[in-house]
Amino acid sequence: MLSPDQVAQFERDGFLVLPDVVGPEAIASLRERAVELVDEWEPTTERTVFTTEQQERVSNREFLSSGDTIWCFFEEEAFGPDGTLTQPKELSINKIGHAMHDLDPVFERFTYTPELAAIAADIGMPDAVVLQSMYIFKQPSIGGEVTCHQDATFLYTDPVTVTGFWFALEDATVENGCLWAAPGGHRTGLRQLFKRTGAMTDDDGTVFEQLDPTPLPTPPGDLVPLEVPAGTLVVLDGLLPHWSDANRSQRSRHAYTVHCISASADYPEWNWLQRRADLPLRRLDSVAA
Ligand code: FE2
Repeated sequence: MLSPDQVAQFERDGFLVLPDVVGPEAIASLRERAVELVDEWEPTTERTVFTTEQQERVSNREFLSSGDTIWCFFEEEAFGPDGTLTQPKELSINKIGHAMHDLDPVFERFTYTPELAAIAADIGMPDAVVLQSMYIFKQPSIGGEVTCHQDATFLYTDPVTVTGFWFALEDATVENGCLWAAPGGHRTGLRQLFKRTGAMTDDDGTVFEQLDPTPLPTPPGDLVPLEVPAGTLVVLDGLLPHWSDANRSQRSRHAYTVHCISASADYPEWNWLQRRADLPLRRLDSVAA
């Protein structure tokens, strides 16, 4: 799927932008299905807000148990001072995660394709398995910032193999909170590990463990914006520092992301994302049911 130049570019920069990967019909079907999933979803009485703020993660039991479910996470700014939504539910969701690629037929068909498996193989992961999926809304006005991070902090394997596949379902611009990345930053060390303190138990405690004190690049100056049209696939190395700003514009910025790891790498049980035994990880090149 990839030319030698594209593979070299990925190795040099830690990311690769591939325009025109997803056609308008596929985009429409994913967007329609995401709307249905939000519509079908019933929030629990306890609000679920996704944020990268460490404390929020620590306290969020629903986040920690979402590795093998389809769950919706509210935008942090979705609620007024009285705790009620200040806009309709469908405009209040930050993202859907984290196993829609295995639990929803529409996202399953889109995810497990020979084409994506070939791209993974071309960048050195012939045995890629799909660890998580997310539908990200980046809602108008309230779409939250995702602070600068390396994906391997949150999805760790030994050796590091996590690779992100980020599909733009709408045009992504600086105005509506596009991805930003630090070219070549994947050749620096992994700064932090995000660990469950009670691995494989009901304990919802988590902790960040510092590995490398080198600061991550500071947004926006240390990063470059990846402004891409709808249909573009951005491939991200798991060590690449990346960031996206809050969306204060009136346009949403929908994206679907898949994170893969190598089947041969060790996946520690202290990773936040754990799957129940009857939902094993599947290879990217396995044919969708
Ligand atoms: Fe990320």
